[in-house]
Formats: sequence, structure tokens, C-alpha cells
Amino acid sequence: MSAGKTVAVLGGTGDLGNALARFLLRQGVAVVIGSRAAERAQRTAAELAAIFPGRVSGESLANAAARADIVAVTVPYTAHQTTLEAVRDVVQGKLVLDATVPLRPPKVLRVQLPAAGCAAVEAQQLLGDGVRVVAALHNIAATHLAAGTVPDCDVLVTGDKEVDRQVIIDLLQAGGLRAWHAGPLANSAAAEALTSILIGINKRYGIDGAGIRITGEPRPV
Ligand SMILES: NC(=O)c1ccc[n+]([C@@H]2O[C@H](COP(=O)([O-])OP(=O)(O)OC[C@H]3O[C@@H](n4cnc5c(N)ncnc54)[C@H](OP(=O)(O)O)[C@@H]3O)[C@@H](O)[C@H]2O)c1
Repeated sequence: MSAGKTVAVLGGTGDLGNALARFLLRQGVAVVIGSRAAERAQRTAAELAAIFPGRVSGESLANAAARADIVAVTVPYTAHQTTLEAVRDVVQGKLVLDATVPLRPPKVLRVQLPAAGCAAVEAQQLLGDGVRVVAALHNIAATHLAAGTVPDCDVLVTGDKEVDRQVIIDLLQAGGLRAWHAGPLANSAAAEALTSILIGINKRYGIDGAGIRITGEPRPV
């Protein structure tokens, strides 16, 4: 399912984006790192190419998004709007995977969702109906995603169309993650809110990247 796809990772110079790039490259997916500064993206791409030769490059945000089938957004909430505005024209008709959590430092342990409901809905409103936004990866620590072992946590995937959620679920499952259909994009509020709770649990209990697990055995329905 993921073979032949190119994924742009906007914010791929940072923690979660770099981890996602590694996760995808390990599966044979081609990756374009996107950055506000093309040289920074090229530097990160060169580091990754030393491990995964031939499948990774670095570009400006808009050039990276233009070259991709799927555009992942892994930037701090303060940069969410400007990042989306930088690529709005070139992502029309594409699938955008948004991992942004609306954390508002310094009170990152407190759930502070935006008036629209959540960051993912804000992304959909800003990009318009020509873009299919799917949200995921809010509840997995970058270190676990990067590690190359199967992470001990699950991923909630929200989006208004089941077929679009399935594309992302296939991409994540191909790398060994357990990913779940978690309903429409507005439900991303729950996953985004959980991140503050997980950060608090990390702090309170000294856990290195707490995650969530869905219990119960799936059966045909
Ligand atoms: N880190 C995790 O474990 C984790 C887990 C789940 C969800 N998340 C969410 O994923 C998103 C990215 O998290 P992260 O930890 O990877 O963030 P990060 O490392 O701090 O930043 C990611 C990248 O965003 C770009 N960026 C654009 N505008 C920025 C600004 N004003 N300030 C700082 N960076 C800016 C930077 O790339 P350029 O300078 O190259 O443009 C930076 O490398 C966040 O919304 C976070 O809540 C993170």
C-alpha cells in the first residue's frame, strides 16, 4: 500500500518529523523533508541518506509538499497556521496527515484546545475542502517512533473519510504500529487532549514516553 508513495514531512528537521521520516524510510517509502529553510532540510536529509540511501531529500515547505502524495505536518502549534499557509496551494487534492498538538507553553500539562475544537479541524478549515486532513500520532513519543522496534503503544487515526483514514492506518501498520479508526476529524480533540495527560504522566511517574493501548480483541463486525 505504501510502496511507491512519497511522503513530505514538514517539520522533518525536528523530533517527531525526524522520527516519522525514519519510520517511513525503514518501510521503503520515499521521504521529502520540509523546512522553513531548505538548507536545514537538506542537512537532515543528508544525515538520513547515510542510513537510508537514495530515498530521502530536503526542500522548502512548499517544494516538499508539491513533490509528495501525502503531506505530514509535524510542527509546534505556534507554527501550525504559518506552515499550513505556506503549503495551502500545493496540497490541494492531497492527503494531509496532521500530528500537531495544540500545546500552549508553559502550561503543557493542561488541556487547552482551540475554539474550533482541535488543531486538526483548524487545519481542515484553513486548507479547505479540496484537502483531506487525517490526524494521528499525537500520543506516541518521537523516540519510540524512531527506535526501529515495535512501539508499545497504539495510534488513534481520525478523519472525515474512512478511505483516507485507511491510507494512513496502512502506512502506520506497515511499520508495525497498531493504528485504529477513531472516527471523524473532530474526534482528534480527544487524541490531542490526551497528549497533555501523557506528558503529565511522564513527569509524575518518570516514564520515558507514555502511550495508550486499546484493549480487547478485534473480531469481524
Ligand atoms: N516530540 C514528540 O515526541 C511528539 C509526539 C507527539 C506529537 N508531537 C507533536 O508534533 C509536533 C512537532 O513536535 P516536535 O517535538 O517534533 O517539535 P520540534 O522538534 O520543536 O519542531 C519541529 C520542527 O518544526 C519547525 N518549526 C516551524 N516553526 C517553528 C517555530 N516557530 N518554533 C519551532 N519550530 C518550528 C522546525 O523546523 P524548521 O526550523 O526546519 O522549519 C522544527 O524542527 C508538535 O505539534 C508536537 O506537539 C510531538
